[in-house]
Amino acid sequence: MDLIEEIKRLKKKKNALILAHLYQPAEIQDIADLVGDSYFLSKKAVQSSCDLIVFCGVRFMAESAKILSPNKKVLLPAEEAACPMADMALVSKIESLKRQYPKAKVVSYINTNIDVKAISDVCVTSSSALKIMGNIKSNEIIFVPDRNLGRYVAEHFPDKKFILYQGFCPTHERVKVADVLEQKNKYKNFKVLVHPECRKEVRDVADCVGSTSELIDYTVSSDAEGFIVVTEEGVIHQMKRKSPHKKFITLQNSMICSNMKMTDLHKVYDCLLNESNEIKLDESMRIKAYKALSNMHLLGDDNKK
Ligand code: 13P
Ligand code: SF4
Repeated sequence: MDLIEEIKRLKKKKNALILAHLYQPAEIQDIADLVGDSYFLSKKAVQSSCDLIVFCGVRFMAESAKILSPNKKVLLPAEEAACPMADMALVSKIESLKRQYPKAKVVSYINTNIDVKAISDVCVTSSSALKIMGNIKSNEIIFVPDRNLGRYVAEHFPDKKFILYQGFCPTHERVKVADVLEQKNKYKNFKVLVHPECRKEVRDVADCVGSTSELIDYTVSSDAEGFIVVTEEGVIHQMKRKSPHKKFITLQNSMICSNMKMTDLHKVYDCLLNESNEIKLDESMRIKAYKALSNMHLLGDDNKK
């Protein structure tokens, strides 16, 4: 059986939409209808007229699509794909911060589980965080859970007080400046691209800091001959497609998110065929979480609230 042909056939028959995050394996990106960063995918999940969404990514992404579009059937091919950073954010700890800072707004990264979104005022993604923060009136912010993205955002808003939850992405956190400089010494003319989930010291040696799609856009518009890519290696697939004549170098210690790599063509096929691994949510929790995610679109799309 030709898996790719079967996936295409089933997709058409069931009027399904396949969404894939930029960290997904190359063959998954290639069969997806849309590939993009977290913000882009969350918007497309809402805008689509399809009844069935197959979300190739990790659980919080598929969950976010279901929170925003409760009438659609949302499937997660790799049922066990979680985000370790999202799992670091605990409701009890956030509630305690809220008691300590009663005037603060809780701003949570979209990389959170539904229980955390339910007690958040607004969600952000790495590509929308600065814009959204600029539209939040409160001067006190509890930022959950990524301390690195939180610090990056805080640097842009020196007039606001930030209380940073101490979570992190293991794939980005372990990068050391020395790892980047080692490659920079070998490839002197290459530009350094860094995701804001990396630590500040690593960001400080970057030519461009941005979300996955912002880094890709940079590689297209820059006239550099090559790039040192300091984020999950899945993004290189689209970078190469968009600029086949340019060079893309990873770090010596590869940056791979094992959860993102749990999706494969067999799982996508099975999931489409059997409509299995459906995301099911508690409705009262969903309604609370919906507020934070819809505020993200409201504040991220230039409609100030
Ligand atoms: P973005 O695609 O929004 O940059 O997200 C990165 C990420 O870590 C997703 O898990
Ligand atoms: Fe979570 Fe990091 Fe993997 Fe993204 S790359 S899903 S933040 S562990």
